[in-house]
Amino acid sequence: MTVSSINETESPVAAKPVFKPVHAVRGMNDIVPPESARWEWLEEQVRSVMQRWAYRNIRTPVLEHTGLFVRGLGEVTDIVEKEMYSFTDRADKTGDADHLSLRPENTAGVVRAVTEHNLLYDGGKRLYYMAPMFRRERPQRGRYRQFHQVGAEALGFAGPEVDAEIILLAHALLQQLGLRDVRLELNSLGQPAERLQHRAALIAYFEAHKDELDEDARRRLHSNPLRILDTKNPAMQALAQQAPKLLDYLGEQSLKHFEQVQAILDANGVAWQINPRLVRGLDYYNLTVFEFITDALGAQGTICGGGRYDYLIEQIGGKPAPAVGWAFGVERVLELLKEQQIAVPAQVPQAYAVVAEPASLPQVMAVLTQLRQAGVAVQMHAPADSAQGLGSFKSQFKRADASGAAWALVFGPDELARGEVTLKPLRGGEQTQLALADIPALAARIQSSLG
Ligand code: HAM
Repeated sequence: MTVSSINETESPVAAKPVFKPVHAVRGMNDIVPPESARWEWLEEQVRSVMQRWAYRNIRTPVLEHTGLFVRGLGEVTDIVEKEMYSFTDRADKTGDADHLSLRPENTAGVVRAVTEHNLLYDGGKRLYYMAPMFRRERPQRGRYRQFHQVGAEALGFAGPEVDAEIILLAHALLQQLGLRDVRLELNSLGQPAERLQHRAALIAYFEAHKDELDEDARRRLHSNPLRILDTKNPAMQALAQQAPKLLDYLGEQSLKHFEQVQAILDANGVAWQINPRLVRGLDYYNLTVFEFITDALGAQGTICGGGRYDYLIEQIGGKPAPAVGWAFGVERVLELLKEQQIAVPAQVPQAYAVVAEPASLPQVMAVLTQLRQAGVAVQMHAPADSAQGLGSFKSQFKRADASGAAWALVFGPDELARGEVTLKPLRGGEQTQLALADIPALAARIQSSLG
């Protein structure tokens, strides 16, 4: 649809144009109150956990050069093959035009930024982000075209203790949110040489069963046979199940690395299980990979996924450095919170200002500003149409009640003449009068009852 067709009127001859409503793009959601309160609450929990684990915030652009993802995520991945929102930018003065994509994930972007700013010059970095991502997938419950990820990346650390740390961090976050019944699956993808051996065995195995392969698997047989293990096709499950396992091809060092990760998780009381078919949907992983999965959300049950990616920094043109990370889907986590009936605090003002006369508004609003400066959350009554005045006390109290506030601050002419305000509890209790001259006392009174 072009810009002009969006603005097109249905009736070009009518005196008053009738505009067609414009809708959000399919698979992309508005987050509006009161739902947005749940998002803000989740973001606060994330920040608080990240502070405790000493992970620092990183923000990178939503648009990157398409080549970053092609090189970083792998050409034969679903994301790069068919899910990216890509376009050619307008040409600059020299006639060159950039090929750009909305980021489908943020590990590649973080690696680019870390390399570009030489962030690893004085040692490893622990970073996190909360940001929108874009994938042109078929929308369904838990799967959107604009979705949000919270991600953590520890770059410049090679040891298994950092794999364990990053998994423990994800676990701590899920616990902080109060989520239950989320299982942790682990696998090791080994090192490139080990994967090559396994790959050869895998190709031989699938070639011997060529008639049983679906179209997708046939296409990937020589380009990315590991991904066939990830098949969602029920007819191919048995075949994938019996395929040669990468774990059987790991050398001593890779196995030791994997065992140390497991030992640290055990010491922390975090349960895990090995899933030899866990291969992840992106090509940059080696050694440890993991997912946190729930059965409560239907088909889109993976709420968090990640692993080690020791070769990505180099692949994107940086000085070789190891790294490990994960990302979870915010929409899926919020769905699971709902599913498990975990209450999230609602956003309500502490007080609602009921005002008798428009003439007193300048004085009242000066008081409200001071109360807000003192930390009180106050909502002021305002009518939709001020031609009728501010509305009756009755209608204002109805609004005050609906706001969820604990207190009504009643600014009547008598109170104001005495330099006072009436503090009326909206959920039962005695009303009191307080002096407007002593804002700290008024603020303290409003806040004391709210614990
Ligand atoms: P991913 O497995 O592609 O990994 O995505 C991580 C999480 O994002 C998924 O487990 C899921 O919860 C959520 N997610 C993915 N696609 C959608 C979608 N279309 N709608 C809603 N939620 C979705 C990565 O993106 C890697 N960058 C993770 C990582 C970080 N690996 C190392 N560091």
